[in-house]
Amino acid sequence: MFVVDNLERQAHPAGAPMWVNPRATYAWCDFRDAPLPNMPTRFDAIVHLAAATGTGQSMYEGALYTRANAELTAYLADLIVAQRLEANRVVFASSRAVYGEGTRECTACGRVRPRVRTRDAASAGDWDPPCPGCGSATTWVPTRETDEARPLSVYGATKSFGEAVLGLLTHHSTPVLSMRFFNLYGPRQTPANPYVGVASTFASLVLAGKPLTIFEDGLVLRDFLHVSDAVDAVCRALDRPVPLKGPMNIGSGRAITLLELARTIADESGASIDALGYTINGATRAGDLRACIADSTLARRELAWAAHTSLRAGVKSLLDWVRGTSMTDPSGALAELERFGLLMGRS
Ligand SMILES: NC(=O)c1ccc[n+]([C@@H]2O[C@H](COP(=O)([O-])OP(=O)(O)OC[C@H]3O[C@@H](n4cnc5c(N)ncnc54)[C@H](O)[C@@H]3O)[C@@H](O)[C@H]2O)c1
Ligand SMILES: [Zn+2]
Repeated sequence: MFVVDNLERQAHPAGAPMWVNPRATYAWCDFRDAPLPNMPTRFDAIVHLAAATGTGQSMYEGALYTRANAELTAYLADLIVAQRLEANRVVFASSRAVYGEGTRECTACGRVRPRVRTRDAASAGDWDPPCPGCGSATTWVPTRETDEARPLSVYGATKSFGEAVLGLLTHHSTPVLSMRFFNLYGPRQTPANPYVGVASTFASLVLAGKPLTIFEDGLVLRDFLHVSDAVDAVCRALDRPVPLKGPMNIGSGRAITLLELARTIADESGASIDALGYTINGATRAGDLRACIADSTLARRELAWAAHTSLRAGVKSLLDWVRGTSMTDPSGALAELERFGLLMGRS
């Protein structure tokens, strides 16, 4: 196995991790320097995970995210098309961010793809997007791969571009599977990076005995997937005798509110969220969405895959990990969004 990783500072503030795989060869450099002198040029599979991953940060660092994600992925496609790299299959780490807002149901119009939520709606505390057809109230339903991609963030747009550009490789006989991971959390996600997922941020704050800030009315819904379940999905995709192509949702299918997540993290740490204190801030971030939950029927059918880790067990493993790291206060990320006028709502 050959791994290329440039140890991007935000993801690896302490440099190379201690858990490197002794059976793999590592090149600690930018993938855009590939192919490297010691790098094989033929692979059974290429798993493309490298990216800049902060959705909120991508809204004010758009050029950086475009270079880090869109350009990088186009570069991988170039290498394959020009036959400087050969692979029997490619697995691309895409994201639920390609969908933007998750699919919803209107009693009159059926399944609908909502419009972007406006500053006016945020100021009025109207968090659930209405039906784009008749304006009625809607409820969330699981989002399917066939639902239209409508990214709401630069990060989501770069993943959508990545899927499109790698999808073209099919014309060159390289099957590409774009795994749309939902909200991943778990050990080894650096809590020092203030732009990683909300579960790591909450865990760092709870363990530091600090109060939490929860967006909107606390009832934002996310589909949290433990990293071990995501890795299992990738391994199944690699082991499958016939490679798959196209997009595939990889999510738990469980809808968890951010308030419930915060409570679970506090409970599992032995603290009480009420004693720590928390603010439901009545604000949302530009590019953020109300609810997006996976329909993973395709992964179940094609990979015999399902998410096995319960939220409690997953949170416990996250807390064990964060306890063993040197924690940093992640609240700087919120201050940056405020500075760039990217918080919308009543606060
Ligand atoms: N964490 C999530 O919730 C989530 C959800 C959906 C999709 N994803 C995607 O899954 C993948 C892995 O995510 P993660 O959470 O492990 O993120 P991560 O930041 O821990 O990992 C990304 C890795 O890419 C490396 N990297 C970045 N640019 C590079 C470059 N130019 N050359 C070489 N290496 C480079 C970084 O050093 C880092 O090790 C990413 O593509 C991410 O967009 C993550
Ligand atoms: Zn309607």
